[in-house]
Amino acid sequence: MNTSLARPDRRTFAIISHPDAGKTTLTEKLLLHGGAIHAAGEVKARGQNRRARSDWMKIEQQRGISVTSSVMTFERTQGGHTTTFNLLDTPGHEDFSEDTYRTLTAVDSAVMVIDAARGIEAQTRKLFEVCRLRDVPIMTFVNKVDREGLSPFALLDEIADKLALDVCPMVWPMGMGNEFVGLYDLTTHQVLLPGGETRQMSGFDDPQLDVLLPNGRAAAFREEAELASAGYAAFDVDSYRAGNLTPVYFGSALREFGVDALIDALEAHAPPPRPQPATPRAVTPDEPTVAGFVFKVQANMDPQHRDRVAFMRLCSGKFKRGMKLKQISTGKVIAVHSPIFFFARERELAEEAWPGDIIGIPNHGALRVGDTLTEGEAITFTGIPNFAPEILRRVKLGDPTKTKQLRNALNDMAEEGVTQIFRPLIGSNWIVGVVGQLQLEVLISRLQAEYKVDAGFEPSPWETARWLSADDPAKLEAFMADHRAAMAEDRDGAPVYMARDAWELNYTSQRNPDIRFTATRERH
Ligand code: G4P
Repeated sequence: MNTSLARPDRRTFAIISHPDAGKTTLTEKLLLHGGAIHAAGEVKARGQNRRARSDWMKIEQQRGISVTSSVMTFERTQGGHTTTFNLLDTPGHEDFSEDTYRTLTAVDSAVMVIDAARGIEAQTRKLFEVCRLRDVPIMTFVNKVDREGLSPFALLDEIADKLALDVCPMVWPMGMGNEFVGLYDLTTHQVLLPGGETRQMSGFDDPQLDVLLPNGRAAAFREEAELASAGYAAFDVDSYRAGNLTPVYFGSALREFGVDALIDALEAHAPPPRPQPATPRAVTPDEPTVAGFVFKVQANMDPQHRDRVAFMRLCSGKFKRGMKLKQISTGKVIAVHSPIFFFARERELAEEAWPGDIIGIPNHGALRVGDTLTEGEAITFTGIPNFAPEILRRVKLGDPTKTKQLRNALNDMAEEGVTQIFRPLIGSNWIVGVVGQLQLEVLISRLQAEYKVDAGFEPSPWETARWLSADDPAKLEAFMADHRAAMAEDRDGAPVYMARDAWELNYTSQRNPDIRFTATRERH
């Protein structure tokens, strides 16, 4: 059977933005558009409460698990062709967190939402850098053109300068704020008016523009539009897919304006599932056997249950319910009997999935972030950061009277998953653990902006950390007493051993076979 003929079209993407730029609003409009949810306002709730109304709440109730809106799938059928869009939520509504990082490893492209009045903001930039690390192609949506904003030229130049990207305006706003009239498609010369009406222009000199933009505004618009089409790089799909060029769309998520053009663009230009880096070889989506990786594990909201949902990105092959997959890290074979699919209407158990799809696999903690699952071949996907922190730093406080604020702030951010904190049993300086340098930067800037705490980091003697457990509590106690200088507690009071390097960790764990050293934090 030639499965590639039946292979449906997938676009797996995330939205990156600074808080308040309009990610939630745009998500909601995209889902409405695709029929995934039926009433506006459903995605609006924030934080843990944010979820699109859906049948999967039923699953949540039945299983006592919460999958919130980690992945939202919507479909669009045009001219007999259906495209499936998998929108991955970048969690923790405003943070650069480990979760966010991992989620971006599971997408093929991203939409960068920018507030027209604010341009590129700090978080947008950080998230952009993560995308760049993996050459994730970016489409830009300049939001809120219904309000006064920066000039479109200033915005384009800022994107080009700050992100070192070629920019290519695809539509041009006809006025902004109170004077906003519509969007001009620079390729098709169609004008989109509020309410969804479109008018075909013969070009920038079409006299209809004088009616739409009276009092001499048409002349100004023509000049701008000429400049916009001539002054920037021409759209080149290869350059976009290589991550060198971003096509720029303008619109208003709130007014549902320009959202269509964005979906059209995702369908037309955003890459279908890409090959994924792995050792000993990369995995391409048209391979016949199933391979995927876990990029996120969501723990139960209810501590009474031990269920977890592992989110697996399918990278190759056609997945079928009930399939047996091998967890490469342990060699264990797992029969995936009740995978959760997140399709627009029927969310419960779909029978098959394709590369680019995300499958939720309920399990009792066996599946970890970074795990590779295959039909048997020993492949390991790379570039998915693990829970264990790779950078441990002591926090240095500028003003010693702010100790309490600092601790509150670190506690808050640890709870949100922005960082991990460890309290050494000896000494009073807390240790912060992160998986990447960028997280440290975010931490410092958030401490300043949100908690008014000036802090810096200094190197700690340790490089890595492991959580400890043992069947015999006395043995654990004894180990802790022997290694007191390297012991800390995590936020939940769980014992953590800190090692100077991988060698020391290995040595210590081999000499203490009764102690379990785990690289993954159990989340409660
Ligand atoms: P976020 O997820 O990126 O944080 O942003 P969110 O969608 O929550 O939007 C932030 C604010 O910007 C919201 O206003 C939202 O209504 C507004 N907004 C989003 N898109 C547009 C747009 O196209 N035009 C205009 N004018 N505003 C937009 P809020 O006052 O914070 O919340 P709410 O009271 O409206 O819910």
